[in-house]
Amino acid sequence: MTDAERREALDAIAREVAVCTGCRLHEGRTRAVPGEGSADTEVVFVGEGPGFNEDRQGRPFVGRAGDLLVRLLGTLGWRREDVFITNVVKCRPPDNRDPEPDEIVACAPFLRRQLAILDPALVVTLGRHSMGRFMPGARIGQVHGTYRPADPALGAADALVYAMYHPAAALRSAEVERQSYEDAAGIPAALLAARERRAGRDADAPGAPAAIEMARAADPAGAAPQPAESESRRPEPAVGSLPPSEPVAPAPHVVNPPLAASPAVSADPPPVPAVSPSVSPAGPADPSAQLTLFGGSSQTP
Ligand code: URA
Repeated sequence: MTDAERREALDAIAREVAVCTGCRLHEGRTRAVPGEGSADTEVVFVGEGPGFNEDRQGRPFVGRAGDLLVRLLGTLGWRREDVFITNVVKCRPPDNRDPEPDEIVACAPFLRRQLAILDPALVVTLGRHSMGRFMPGARIGQVHGTYRPADPALGAADALVYAMYHPAAALRSAEVERQSYEDAAGIPAALLAARERRAGRDADAPGAPAAIEMARAADPAGAAPQPAESESRRPEPAVGSLPPSEPVAPAPHVVNPPLAASPAVSADPPPVPAVSPSVSPAGPADPSAQLTLFGGSSQTP
């Protein structure tokens, strides 16, 4: 799928969401909030449901919780338009109550289709209800800052899921805020692990080892042959930001120009602790690393 096709498919879902009457939440909405962000990103953030400001504007995470989310992203050198941000329910629950299970189920096909289109490497859940969708039975206090493979039936065919507290919870508790910064510092390690996993899968595909050898032989520096620009997609890990031991991927996609990693823009982030907890398969997070995120910049209104 090309970038343009992905964008068009996401826009089509947004049009459906805008007129959806699939559950009671449509009765009280001002505007539905389908989600927004890059159609070519590696990372999708999934919150719970729109609040007052989001309902007014039709955009996710534009209130105080959104401000904190942007600060958390800023500690990684990422901007909100570099990722895709959406929610498990697309219409505001009355009085900001938690979404009901049947509302989450009714809205699930939209999220599943968004993830299928975006095919992210990493899904970051924000809060209990989002986590509950991707890590059923887990407790946020135990799994925040950790990742596990995503169930492909939920839309993301080959992704890891990384759990974080909801930013609104972090606004209510200094300790949760501190842990949220700590968890944000673990996102790059989770993304690296997700890229490695995907690269491994690609390498297992029939014909891939030969393609990798050919790519290496053609370009000892490690760049693989590149398809037409219209097929442009986020990279496999043949990028300088990865450790030298990172395998050269078969790279079926063009390596997009890396987004300029802007300096951390957090206004006053708490100090980032040395190591992200319990993120182990890819090794400990390097909180000083500003992992270049591929895809980005095109924003859906
Ligand atoms: N909280 C959420 O879970 N989602 C939003 O979009 C805003 C606040």
